[in-house]
Amino acid sequence: MAAAPARARADYDYLVKLLLIGDSGKSLLSLYLPYRVGKSCLLLRFSDDSFTTSFITTIGIDFKIRTIELDGKRIKLQIWDTAGQERFRTITTAYYRGAMGILLVYDVTDESNWIRNIEQHASDNVNKILIGNKADMDESKRAVPTSRGQALADEYGIKFFETSAKTNFNVEQVFFSIARDIKQRLTDNDSKAEPQTIKISKPDPGKGSSTALEKSACCGS
Ligand code: GTP
Repeated sequence: MAAAPARARADYDYLVKLLLIGDSGKSLLSLYLPYRVGKSCLLLRFSDDSFTTSFITTIGIDFKIRTIELDGKRIKLQIWDTAGQERFRTITTAYYRGAMGILLVYDVTDESNWIRNIEQHASDNVNKILIGNKADMDESKRAVPTSRGQALADEYGIKFFETSAKTNFNVEQVFFSIARDIKQRLTDNDSKAEPQTIKISKPDPGKGSSTALEKSACCGS
């Protein structure tokens, strides 16, 4: 009998690993006061429905869990929050492997580093989504227009949202959107993965033919 896929467990139907990525910008004061795009705040808003203006930067990596329901299936989202600062890069890149979805976050008030992320992860075989955070900020502070974010996402064929962790604008939509796309991909892969049949031929001297012993093997995914 085929073995159950590793992700099938009692409390969820799918376990989805997501990664939040977004570089701290290089402002003139970057050493002391780097632009931080708001990854931790987006995660906190989605997992705990709260917001803080704290200045504590992420050291290395952290994660939170939230289980959502899509089409009657429980999707357990394990969301990893990576440090945006350059000096933690060697730690964070180790976590990219195994991610099923990447949320590329930039700050709409800072254009210093926003495009590098998407180019770095362009070839990864995972679902991606582009997020322009801090959409609540005053238009006079805006550095990246909505149309520019949308054009970049279109160029790479990925979805785009502007969000605000502060006002809770589009936060649920972002996570549900990427979760839905990943679930769809996993479902498509499962239906494509036909069970393999291994035939072991054993000569039958009496009949001069062979008896096929068939073994069904499932590779999972
Ligand atoms: P690192 O951990 O250093 O990578 O930073 P980060 O990207 O996780 O940023 P973080 O979530 O810590 O937020 C950085 C700053 O931006 C904090 O002072 C937040 O209060 C602020 N911030 C985050 N999201 C928003 C938002 O949607 N709107 C506004 N106005 N400020 C935000």
